[in-house]
Amino acid sequence: VGRGDVDLRAGADLRPEDVVRLEDDRVVLLDQRRLPDEVAELECRSSGEVAAAIRSLAVRGAPAIGVAAAMGYALAARCGEDLETAARTLLAARPTAVNLPWAIAEMRRSGSDPHTLAERSRELHRLEVERCVAMGEHAVGLFESGSRVLTHCNTGALATAGHGSALGAVRTAYARGLVEHVYVGETRPLNQGSRLTAWELERAGIPHTVIVDAAAGVVMARREVSHVVVGADRIAANGDVANKIGTYALAVLAAHHRIPFIVVVPTSTVDPVAMTGDEIPIEERPPEEVSARFPARNPAFDITPSTLVTAIVTERGIHRPPYERTLRP
Ligand code: MRU
Repeated sequence: VGRGDVDLRAGADLRPEDVVRLEDDRVVLLDQRRLPDEVAELECRSSGEVAAAIRSLAVRGAPAIGVAAAMGYALAARCGEDLETAARTLLAARPTAVNLPWAIAEMRRSGSDPHTLAERSRELHRLEVERCVAMGEHAVGLFESGSRVLTHCNTGALATAGHGSALGAVRTAYARGLVEHVYVGETRPLNQGSRLTAWELERAGIPHTVIVDAAAGVVMARREVSHVVVGADRIAANGDVANKIGTYALAVLAAHHRIPFIVVVPTSTVDPVAMTGDEIPIEERPPEEVSARFPARNPAFDITPSTLVTAIVTERGIHRPPYERTLRP
């Protein structure tokens, strides 16, 4: 479908409803597969179509996946689908982001009335955006004037359906005059960094440079990076972080160069049931995304051990080790 009424002028903020919204009989998504070349919306008219949109990364990023799944569940009720089947289909779409099962559990607690479920999914969306804004405020305390940030994947308004987690914190810190420059890791194989994060930073007018993932070491060695700031798809109770493939390598490099490694997430991304990263399922995506010709392997996420994480920021504040104690609700 068309591009809705997304404001395409540079400097215009993406509104939460630009990223994902529930209309009467459909869920409408900004199709992230087509950015930055095309701003186009995708309409989903069943929970199965929402699940397919999540699986194919039309909507992606842990909090945005959770919000889309909640709206898919509400849509299922509106369309008279069997809610248990809808929940199962949505839950199977992607395995790593805990926001998906978290959102479905929240929806299941709200019964089966279509109107109540629609309102609840919109409320979950609003609360997620509020959490992101609060996280950004807390995270500002970790930056100092002239900070030069390296980030990975996309953790902006697109990934969280409003404001952003790690990139939201960078935006807030930039607005306070604390961030000078952002290095954007391209994020092979699907380039969420060079397509989506660069697009968001360009719109926000924040100075940025895209680098290939393998250039992270050289920019750190040249002291061009003061902070590495990333989001997460799931954090275990001990603070181990599952995030986009390549995050672990950045954390090792940051430790070697004594650069703070900061993770910014809403508490909907903290999984109190997974005690360590070993218990987090890692999505294996089609090998063709890596190589259309040769045998390939495509783990979409990796685990960064909590020992490499300087601080985890949630809407509750800045958490420091030992995370099993400081992250506990
Ligand atoms: O495969 P994706 O693009 O959904 O992966 C997203 C990430 O790894 C993000 O860093 C994570 O979801 C945090 S977004 C706030």
